[in-house]
Amino acid sequence: GKVGVLFGGRSAEREVSLMSGNGVLKALQSKGIDAHGFDPAQRSLAELAAEKFDRVFIALHGRYGEDGSLQGALEQLGIPYTGSGVMASAIAMDKVMTKRIWQSYDLPTPRFLVLEADGMSREQLRKVPDVLGLPLMLKAPHEGSTIGISKINGYSDMQDGFALCAKFDEVVLAEEFIQGRELTVAILGAGSSARALPVIEIRAPGGNYDYEHKYLSDDTQYLCPAPLNSDLTGQIQAIAVRAYKAAGCKGWARVDFMLRNGDDEPFLLEINTSPGMTGHSLVPMAAKAAGMSYEDLCVEILASAAL
Ligand code: DAL
Ligand code: MG
Repeated sequence: GKVGVLFGGRSAEREVSLMSGNGVLKALQSKGIDAHGFDPAQRSLAELAAEKFDRVFIALHGRYGEDGSLQGALEQLGIPYTGSGVMASAIAMDKVMTKRIWQSYDLPTPRFLVLEADGMSREQLRKVPDVLGLPLMLKAPHEGSTIGISKINGYSDMQDGFALCAKFDEVVLAEEFIQGRELTVAILGAGSSARALPVIEIRAPGGNYDYEHKYLSDDTQYLCPAPLNSDLTGQIQAIAVRAYKAAGCKGWARVDFMLRNGDDEPFLLEINTSPGMTGHSLVPMAAKAAGMSYEDLCVEILASAAL
């Protein structure tokens, strides 16, 4: 049947989604699938309904695409879609809610405070490092691709970092910084058949895996499978699958970690329910290490489309 690839969209990650969606579209077409691109930023939901897609592949990132709102619209229209449903998408789009759920399952995630974007005095901000230590991370809870994230090294950075996050969200997540190695785990499937792909380690110059290093520059090193012993690999993959299920995810997602230096304790940072599928992206890299081509990965994700 006719497949829609939804990409573009209205979030701060529009440019990333254009790259992801073009890749997915070409891959599905190369497999003989009758796939058509559709940009919800340019066309209405009525037009989406009129396309009579049998199912859609969501290659949108961020708000109005990855956050459950589009998933709800697709439910209403009766169009099966890839990835997580309304609730899991909404939870995963909110880094604070995700962490609260993980805490309730005793899954490891860095300590944090939730700050009101419009309600923090200079004095209150100065107290945050006393609780979480320095450095610490400030994050806009609903953004992706490292947009609205600052690493705070000293008291004097707090004000500017907070102002940046406050531009994106009504609350700001202040999180303990875990000094260590940056890892990510792609998950495919649902329920008892959810499975982790090989772990990826990301080594960005200066430990700064930001938007620039994610999509624009070529100087980030990716190690896949990550050089970890098999016990630790298995432990991290198991935590990733539990973290995915705890949030109610299905279809596919990518779970991001820090592995603390010294004791090799893994800490969960966030889940991405519609992860990047660009030429630089990590889920395709993990799939390749597992012997699955980009095209086969796209076909497998599409096969999971459901209502
Ligand atoms: N938010 C970006 C697209 C990712 O997680 O890959
Ligand atoms: Mg993210």
